Amino acid sequence: ISNDLYPNASLPLERKDSGVPYVRQGLHVESYNDFDPLRHVIVGIADNQHIPEACPASNEKIPAGSPMRGGKAGRRTQESIERANECLNGFAKILEDRNIIVDRPGAVDWHERITTPDFSISSGFGVMPPRDCLLTMGKSMLMAPMSFRSRYFEYLAYVDLMREYFESDPNCMIEQAPRPRLSDDSFRMDYVAAYEYLSDAETMERSLRKEYSTKETDILFDAADVMRLGKDIFVQHGLTTNLAGIRWIKRKYESQGYRVHTLSFEDNHPIHIDATFCPLRPGLMLLNPNRPLFKGQREIFEKNDWEIVEAVSPAWDNPPPLCYSSTWLSMNTLILDHKTVCVEASETAQMEQFDKLGFDVVPVDLRDAYAFGGGLHCATADVWREGTCEDYFP
Ligand code: NVA
Repeated sequence: ISNDLYPNASLPLERKDSGVPYVRQGLHVESYNDFDPLRHVIVGIADNQHIPEACPASNEKIPAGSPMRGGKAGRRTQESIERANECLNGFAKILEDRNIIVDRPGAVDWHERITTPDFSISSGFGVMPPRDCLLTMGKSMLMAPMSFRSRYFEYLAYVDLMREYFESDPNCMIEQAPRPRLSDDSFRMDYVAAYEYLSDAETMERSLRKEYSTKETDILFDAADVMRLGKDIFVQHGLTTNLAGIRWIKRKYESQGYRVHTLSFEDNHPIHIDATFCPLRPGLMLLNPNRPLFKGQREIFEKNDWEIVEAVSPAWDNPPPLCYSSTWLSMNTLILDHKTVCVEASETAQMEQFDKLGFDVVPVDLRDAYAFGGGLHCATADVWREGTCEDYFP
């Protein structure tokens, strides 16, 4: 690969460590939604995952009384890592058997304390879930500016893959959003201190006022707060995505012809949109009945004749131990095409609902990986789905 200025220069075509070539023939990066036919996807890995000590943003996500509030910091047990990898590898195999290309991120050793000029934390988090970190928007893949201190360097797990995508698909662009500082100035430290003692009603009141422990000092968003629907992009304002983050997404993508909409749900822990607001195929939306949209925000769907269905109740009363997410991971599915959906195997009612909606359901055993960062949608990131950028809301 040469360039005009230095015609004799070339980039190394192989990675130094593994000798694996950077260029993969036929590789294609492109995706505009979460339901067109899936051709290539990244599935996370559980290797080396840690429970980091609490940080200002993570405290607000972790349920009150959970040992994960700080006391439990350290490497997850080898047994739980192996079991989670068994689930994730099984999921990858199901996808590969359907001729979907599956890539896995590189493992990162999170054991060392992470220190920047602005903060210090006991360890990184892990290499799950890729959906939080990577935003595929058309032919570009963007690494998101996440708000958990433990996830500040998580993009490192994807650098080699991104490099390979960049060299293999001449139309693909890899990007990094502005890096936040995550210093104490980035958070309402008084909120963080008080959080432990707030009731659910109090946290709900605060959330309805759109007040979170994250301030507007940094540009912050997690890719999992963004739902792509062709020309329209829906972004959840909440703990992990602030208004500065939404302004950044708006300015960046509206200049490319997308329309960006801010959504708010009645949810006392609004973090990641994909167990709340899940488009299933063109014209059909699955919503979480416990987290209604703010007034007026359904109009765009109703005006465009979208059918809105409420998800059935999850099969479980509680999430598995040491899990950051709610039981609503039941509706966090991976759609393979307009007729096929992967659902967690124990979520029988959710599977039945999809069956009635006309989907072929593929059960996937993943519950023992939930604690590592969520459900089937969380555990993946799109590289390529067939289809073009449609206007579903003309
Ligand atoms: N934080 C949300 C979304 C997870 C994908 C939940 O726990 O339901």
